[in-house]
Amino acid sequence: MKKYTNTSDITSLANLVDEAIALKKNPFAFESLGKHKTLVMLFFNPSLRTRLSTQKAAQNLGMEVMIMNISHDGWVLEFEDGSIMNNASSEHVKEAAQVVSQYCDILAIRAFAGLTNKEEDYNEKVINAFVQYATVPVVSLESATGHPLQALADAITLAENKVKQKPKVVLSWAPHPKALPHAVANSFVEIMQLQDVDFVITHPKGYELDTKITEGVMIEYDQKKAFENADFIYTKNWSTFNDYGKVQSQDKNWMITQQKMQGTNNAKFMHCLPVRRNVVVEDAVIDDKNSLVIEQAKNRTFAAQIVLKRILENSNSPLKRA
Ligand code: CP
Repeated sequence: MKKYTNTSDITSLANLVDEAIALKKNPFAFESLGKHKTLVMLFFNPSLRTRLSTQKAAQNLGMEVMIMNISHDGWVLEFEDGSIMNNASSEHVKEAAQVVSQYCDILAIRAFAGLTNKEEDYNEKVINAFVQYATVPVVSLESATGHPLQALADAITLAENKVKQKPKVVLSWAPHPKALPHAVANSFVEIMQLQDVDFVITHPKGYELDTKITEGVMIEYDQKKAFENADFIYTKNWSTFNDYGKVQSQDKNWMITQQKMQGTNNAKFMHCLPVRRNVVVEDAVIDDKNSLVIEQAKNRTFAAQIVLKRILENSNSPLKRA
């Protein structure tokens, strides 16, 4: 693996999931692979799970880790080519990415969508600039439009918990007071399309995701109908895509409740966290034995570890070094 900024960097999801599950059983099996190698993580936005699980993953492989909250502690970066930098930005990403690359072997970046400029977000201005100018492999810790490490952890969790060959998986929108990015939903849709599942998305009208991502996926606007026979309910809020970045609905009737879960096939509940209790999901659902949210968070370590391992193996290969 040369980089991991999108689910399209996965060549075989089944192999990646199987190997991640093997790593989970024996996390220190490759503790020498990352010796004298460094992971730098740059955070433009807050994190709990991504930061700690990726650090743990790197440490399990014997890597050193350096972390910077770049939006608080770094210079304001410029991303435009040819700009006259007489305003807020002090350093161009061209230099920053090359400089940081000299301090590490893998560079991981978290940079959320701004949700004001659709073109800029969907062109992945920040992470693509780092991919362009860094001289080491780049990993996404959630970008403007995707969260591929979360999606891989979700695929691992699904593989570990499914009891039939082709489970029904429902991605359900739920209300939230703030406008949230599409990243988690987009990557979940993409990774569901890489496996044998009966996949349905349910959301209020107006909350359609990018049709380039949802092409061929069943959309059911009636949440109750979508939940029928579901084996997994994956819940996430996202803001509108077409009328970009808006909160058009806070309809409490879309919250995930115990009563709605009773209309499923004893479905497992999934959410990437953090989650607003009793806004997105009722306490009774998230605290139930069918809730997988803590397992999902645990699998973030092994999703990150398999990705870092594959990148290290690629960088270490004799062909690459030659
Ligand atoms: N799910 C997830 O990415 O969590 P954090 O934002 O806490 O990293």
